[in-house]
Amino acid sequence: MAERKLLVLFGSQTGTAQDTAERIGREAKRRRFHCRVEALDSYPVAQLIQELLVVFVCATTGQGDPPDNMKNFWRFIFRKNLSPASLCQMDYAVLGLGDSSYPKFNFVAKKLHKRLQQLGASPILPVALGDDQHDLGPDAVVDPWLLDLWGRILPLYPLPPGLGIIGPDVLLPSKFTLHFLDERSSGCDGEAARQAPSELHPFAAQVVSNLRVTAESHFQDVRLIEFDVTGSGIEYSAGDVVMIQPRNAPEDVQQFCQLLRLDPDRCFVLKPSEPGTPLPAHLPQPCTIQHLVACYLDISCVPRRSFFELLSWFSPNELEREKLQEFSSAQGQEELYSYCNRPRRTTLEVLCDFPHTTCAVPLDYLLDLIPRIQPRAFSIASSMLALPNRLQILLAVVQYKTRLSKPRRGLCSTWLASLRPQQGAVRVPLWVKRGGMKFPVEPDTPIIMIGPGTGVAPFRAAIQERVAHGRKGNYLFFGCRQKSKDFYCGAEWQELVKSGHLTLFTAFSRDQEEKIYVQHRIRENKGLVWDLLSRGNAHIYLAGNAKQMPAAVAEALKSVFQLEGDLSPSEAEEYLTALERSHRFQMETWS
Ligand code: 2AM
Repeated sequence: MAERKLLVLFGSQTGTAQDTAERIGREAKRRRFHCRVEALDSYPVAQLIQELLVVFVCATTGQGDPPDNMKNFWRFIFRKNLSPASLCQMDYAVLGLGDSSYPKFNFVAKKLHKRLQQLGASPILPVALGDDQHDLGPDAVVDPWLLDLWGRILPLYPLPPGLGIIGPDVLLPSKFTLHFLDERSSGCDGEAARQAPSELHPFAAQVVSNLRVTAESHFQDVRLIEFDVTGSGIEYSAGDVVMIQPRNAPEDVQQFCQLLRLDPDRCFVLKPSEPGTPLPAHLPQPCTIQHLVACYLDISCVPRRSFFELLSWFSPNELEREKLQEFSSAQGQEELYSYCNRPRRTTLEVLCDFPHTTCAVPLDYLLDLIPRIQPRAFSIASSMLALPNRLQILLAVVQYKTRLSKPRRGLCSTWLASLRPQQGAVRVPLWVKRGGMKFPVEPDTPIIMIGPGTGVAPFRAAIQERVAHGRKGNYLFFGCRQKSKDFYCGAEWQELVKSGHLTLFTAFSRDQEEKIYVQHRIRENKGLVWDLLSRGNAHIYLAGNAKQMPAAVAEALKSVFQLEGDLSPSEAEEYLTALERSHRFQMETWS
């Protein structure tokens, strides 16, 4: 009989694909497979040719991009010199996770599915396209797809004779075990040796300033935050992104430790339960409970279904256990959504709602139960040429109401906004990543930048950089609500306009009766826009967080091409596509 080995590889940006991959891993273990679950970039890709059965779980991020932890794999798999029969031994299935409100929905999964076939692998199922926009989230697609998956796999790899599926009445072992040390906090959580800052070795930056740039009376708190990166070795250019690793609020850490009766000062080392399982790379060894809870466990995220499933195991209380079991069942998903996802209830709040269960959670299962805090990406809003040894971001503090009485707050933005400069103690772990947006190197190429709200951040970096090089031809379309409230960086722009370095178009959406947006200003300035593109060979950039904005701007641009360039609607469409293909039209949008 063929060896019953299943490999689950994931590419995950926010943790959903990883969670789903781990769920498939657990289901595989219940079906008695030897199963390994790994991030695509941690897996030695050259071994893929020997694999017989692989499930790929891949998210799509940004503008149809693969997540960071599968970027190397992505480059490798599209190498031209790979033979068309390289993967002819492999049976595979691809599960995509995406968001249908973005233009390139599940692009990575679809492209991977095609590529694997080109390389000779055989799909055992059609590609599944999970959608964040679905009322019940991606599980609406994942659940039935997984049933199909096992329906296909088990006939190919039948259960060993005499053995059945390990039922839901058996608790699977935890991924790791915690071994407590005698020493308490001193000597633990040591600083890693200095290297170029990266995800595994971030630079601990001091906050130099933290300035609110919107009026106190404005609904949104936007900050210009400056970090000191002296001595870090960090170098960046306009368009690059800074990754920030946030931590939980001290009061949340304290509450969590109380609920689970944890001593924050205790030190432990982690050991994998099964040989070969890699230890979490982001945790120091030995580590304190304080560090684990403050810096690693994402207790403010909305818990996933797998959290309830596992939690139900530990409940000594019948009422709580029944509720948890209901939330983890297929029939309970609508109720789970209205309890958890819609009001954005946090893990910590859920734990408070299940007090008997919470204090019975075995510590070995903490890392199975609660995912790691994900780093957050921010467009860098400054240039090293203008501000050596410094790095700035424009940060919109996330806060909103749901039906829960306590307002919801973004973990990273709330933490950053709370930091006071020169307080010394709290430093911000960060590193820099090359960004998707590239600005022209030719000195005479003009750039048209469209950046409403904090979308202007990468353009501030680009303008500072170009001004430092003495480059003109900078055209900025900026949009905000009111000139007096959220026209941040307005004074800087005015200076640059005066010195002839910048041409600025502003759209204050709420300073008059009718809404005026950046796309209106583009239409009004159609002659200039067309001239810059058609004669000046200009590059055009779009960044921002309004969901409808990119499509509205694209429409405005197409109408400029038609009116000024005399193009038909389909020619205008093609012109825009050609600009995109040649990287003369680039965008970075987020929600
Ligand atoms: P509004 O909030 O008044 O609708 C930055 O957030 C600016 O982007 C605000 O002025 C906001 O206007 C505007 N904005 C909102 N939706 C937009 C869209 N679809 N297109 C362009 N700008 C938009």
